[in-house]
Amino acid sequence: MRARSKHRKSTTWGCNAWSRVSMSTVVWSLIGCLLMLHLYSIVRQRDTIGGIRLHTSHHILLRELEAVEEEDIQIPPPKGKRSPHAAKRRPKRKTTLIDEFLDENSQLRNVFFPDEKTAIDPMKDVGDDSFYYFPARIWLDTEGNPIQAHGGGILYDDRSDMYYWYGEYKDGPTYQAHKDGPARVDIIGVGCYSSKDLWTWKNEGLVLAAEEKNETHDLHKSNVLERPKVIYNERTGKYVMWMHIDDANYTKASVGIAISDYPTGPFDYLYSKRPHGFESRDMTIFRDDDGVAYLIYSSEDNSELHIGPLTDDYLDVTNVMRQILIKQHREAPALFKHEGTYYMVTSGCTGWAPNEAMVHAADSIMGPWETMGNPCIGGNKMFRLTTFFAQSTFVVPLPGLPGFFIFMADRWNPPDLRDSRYVWLPLVVGGAADLPFEYSFGFPLWSRVSIYWHRKWKLPDVWKG
Ligand code: GAL
Repeated sequence: MRARSKHRKSTTWGCNAWSRVSMSTVVWSLIGCLLMLHLYSIVRQRDTIGGIRLHTSHHILLRELEAVEEEDIQIPPPKGKRSPHAAKRRPKRKTTLIDEFLDENSQLRNVFFPDEKTAIDPMKDVGDDSFYYFPARIWLDTEGNPIQAHGGGILYDDRSDMYYWYGEYKDGPTYQAHKDGPARVDIIGVGCYSSKDLWTWKNEGLVLAAEEKNETHDLHKSNVLERPKVIYNERTGKYVMWMHIDDANYTKASVGIAISDYPTGPFDYLYSKRPHGFESRDMTIFRDDDGVAYLIYSSEDNSELHIGPLTDDYLDVTNVMRQILIKQHREAPALFKHEGTYYMVTSGCTGWAPNEAMVHAADSIMGPWETMGNPCIGGNKMFRLTTFFAQSTFVVPLPGLPGFFIFMADRWNPPDLRDSRYVWLPLVVGGAADLPFEYSFGFPLWSRVSIYWHRKWKLPDVWKG
């Protein structure tokens, strides 16, 4: 017996190259499990920071903002009978919804640019439609005129407890400066609207006006003033406006700076420059929680973005700058921050024509920035590939609703730019992590950013504006 058991024992250890293999497999699996657990806890930690967020996002009032709404828009058959000759020829390619969108005479015109009969008029008793956003419908101010604040941004001013919406006032004729030049409207100025509820907007007038006579002035009407954004400087007590300043051919590629003592202006135009000595076209500014503000602009023929802090008074850039999203050809940047992470929505570079949005994320505002993908959800494939036929301009934080933002975009109308529309939609940070495109670290770290299509939506009543 003893011998046998001895034998058996020796067999157990002896023939046991296999056992050793399985022992080390067990040990390594354990280590693997521990590692996975550790990584999981890191991700969980991020999610717990956003614990309120996950909780909030499942709040019943908010859930409907995350509902996926589909759109079924049929492309109409070509108008009139095709000639026998044309009928024989196969069309080069199928007409797409984007062709229809860009066709001024499309039978779908009214789908993309609903007429004034459907205008949103917050001063009328609209019953149940009160406080509802209807993306792309005409939106009237408190005097009954269509809001003129394109390529705009919103400042929340705690001194007056008001929201101010600044944008390009484009209520003039659209024309081309040259046969092949882009459609344009002469500079009229920067429009400003005030609101308590982000729905009813009072026109505060032109807070920065074009220069009519002096042709050498940056703001001469023949030039370009786009994407104005305003922030408040606590130290100097001034409201500071940054904007894209250009000539009609977009070769000046500069930023312009103006200041005012009041959010409603008038703003004094100070000067323009090429920041850090580089071309600057589409741009925005972002004020971080610590009071440091940053300029972000498309540069090097729009092939990359540049980012850098402003001076303490916000009137200039410093000489610190990083090149980001190199060779990605992004513009129309709209930056926001959630739970210590920076996010940015951008568009591609196709002039007034819509294209696919991308969202980017970074742990530090100066980068590295990683591209996560297209945040658009719902509508239909064409809606998602065209940012709902619009282009990003700003993301509005909603105090009291962590993880929820308003995504502001412009549905440009190149044949008649003054009639460009606003597409405001809920943007939600949370949910399953996205795999970044330029993914270097080996683990998806960022929360998903989603922009949900809605034909009609409103901020939940829990939101205290
Ligand atoms: C877009 C840009 C707009 C405007 C337009 C002119 O790419 O985002 O702000 O500059 O080009 O074609």
